[in-house]
Amino acid sequence: MKLLAGRAERRYRISNDSNPKSTAEDDMIRSVLWQLLVLGISGVLASAAQAAGDPAAGKSKFATCAGCHAIPGYTNAYPTYHVPRLGGQHADYIIVALKAYQAGERKHPTMHANAFSLNEQDMQDIAAYLSSFPAAAAPYPVRGDTAAGKTKSAACAACHGTDGNGIIPIYPRLAGQQEDYLRKALGDYQSGARTNPIMGGMAKPLSPQDITDLASYFASQPKGLVTVQQE
Ligand code: HEC
Ligand code: HEC
Repeated sequence: MKLLAGRAERRYRISNDSNPKSTAEDDMIRSVLWQLLVLGISGVLASAAQAAGDPAAGKSKFATCAGCHAIPGYTNAYPTYHVPRLGGQHADYIIVALKAYQAGERKHPTMHANAFSLNEQDMQDIAAYLSSFPAAAAPYPVRGDTAAGKTKSAACAACHGTDGNGIIPIYPRLAGQQEDYLRKALGDYQSGARTNPIMGGMAKPLSPQDITDLASYFASQPKGLVTVQQE
């Protein structure tokens, strides 16, 4: 996936260089279409792998994670933002995220420590467990301007769905995700603290107001993610 995404990024650059007259919008559309094609292929491969996960085993393996991810309103200490909701997230994306923390590509010391000892089967099981949660019964209240966010979200719909419940397994669902976590993630892509060729490009042109509005819109969407509950 990393390799494929890297290729898409290179091709995007080449198309920019060789055709200086094309508008930024043309480039963006071409880039998105190309990435969708690439993701279509890797999505098929990824869902074949996903069938290996055992949700019941994943539930017990998630016990060490529950202290942060199964407590409604739990926040990261510094900087302060809510830990992401994981219930209902796409299994393939969970695995991508855990591998990125494990490899240190996605930098977060606590998550690095938590992902470090997981093997492939552990990740498959945990991902199968997390993705099995049903969608939120009601939308969450948010602080920002969801109407402004909705207009701006057109650029995100191809991959994340118009309502943040996109169906491509390797792209995260955003609906019902914590508002401040979404802001943090977009800010990290923009600053380069979190690296991803696709999202780096998407976040680059956003103003602070755009980030606030987009986070509010996706966080407020119905049928969203839930906080894991382990009884
Ligand atoms: C001490 C608290 C803590 C523990 C324990 C913890 N996490 Fe996390 N987790 C976080 C925080 C904070 C983030 C967001 C980090 C960031 O900004 O990248 C996160 C992010 C994640 C993400 C990425 C979500 C997304 O939307 O990208 C996944 C997946 C995840 N954790 C799974 C786990 C699993 C599985 C375990 C147990 C093996 C675990 N976490 C244990 C605090 C914790
Ligand atoms: C071409 C596909 C594509 C488009 C268009 C796109 N994204 Fe993404 N998005 C991704 C991928 C892939 C990831 C996961 C990247 C990673 O592993 O860090 C992602 C991750 C994210 C995350 C992090 C979620 C989490 O759980 O950590 C946020 C927030 C996000 N995107 C918001 C947006 C917004 C807002 C837009 C529109 C301005 C947008 N995306 C447009 C593909 C896309």
